[in-house]
Parts: sequence; C-alpha cells; structure tokens
Amino acid sequence: MSHLHIQIIHGPNLNMLGTREPGHYGSQTLADIDEELIQLGDKLGVRITTFQSNHEGEIVDKIQHLDAQGLIINPAAYTHTSVAIRDALLAVQVPFVEVHLSNIHKREDFRHKSMMVDMAMAVIAGFGSQSYTLALRGIHHHLLQSKQS
Ligand code: DQA
Repeated sequence: MSHLHIQIIHGPNLNMLGTREPGHYGSQTLADIDEELIQLGDKLGVRITTFQSNHEGEIVDKIQHLDAQGLIINPAAYTHTSVAIRDALLAVQVPFVEVHLSNIHKREDFRHKSMMVDMAMAVIAGFGSQSYTLALRGIHHHLLQSKQS
C-alpha cells in the first residue's frame, strides 16, 4: 500500500515556540506540535515529515524539492513579504494549506496580507496548534478524494 506523504514547513521564529509571545502562540513547543502531527498522521495512515527554517532561501529549496503529495505551511513572517516563496509554490503546484497559530486578521494591518493565500487550497488561522491538526485532517480528506476521482 502506498502511503500518502504530507510535508509540514514552519517558517522563521517558530523554533522559539513555547517561550515566544505565548499570548499569541501558546505554550507548546515546535517539537510538541510536530509530535502531535506525526501521531495524527499515524492514525490517518499518512507519512508526515517536518521542516523548520529561519531562512527564506532554505524554505524555497525545500519547496522546490518536495516529494510529498500535499503541503502544510506556516510561512510565519514570510507570509506577508515573500515573493520568492510564492513563486516556489507556483512552480511546484503542490496542493497546500496555509496555517497560522494566531488569527492574523485580528492583529496589526501588515499581517492581514498574505502573499500566498490566493493559491492555497485553504487557510486556517487562530486555533493555535490545532490550526495544524485541522489542516492535516482537511488536506488528507482532499487528497483521498482526488485519488478516487
Ligand atoms: C504566524 C503569524 C505571522 O504574522 C507571524 O510573523 C508569525 C507566526 C502565526 O502562526 O500566527 O511568525 O504565522
């Protein structure tokens, strides 16, 4: 049986979750979130791989070399600025969900804009770490449906 593979990409400063602005981002660490996703992946029968970088070019490289059928990405601050990440997503055409721990629309104006949102299959923002697990359930369902059709 060939397993679905979903890649998770976390952008800059998300390696500091747990201590970074817990009012916005909660108290779970990135390792906690990755563990939760891997466990949910096991239940769903999906292979999960995770990647975090503080560097735009490394995120672009990761997207260019994706070998997954779906992507969950929290581009963090690059959400609001990165033409390079947008272009990489356009180049590979892998279905992706944009996620944010915080509700970016309730925050400063500059966070209301996303460079990739119009290409995303879906966006989930504001549920803390649950934004990722909801995204995984959603993209898994979508990929299963598109496999059948
Ligand atoms: C974030 C929101 C961004 O505006 C911010 O720069 C982040 C995290 C979130 O998950 O809520 O680093 O993407």
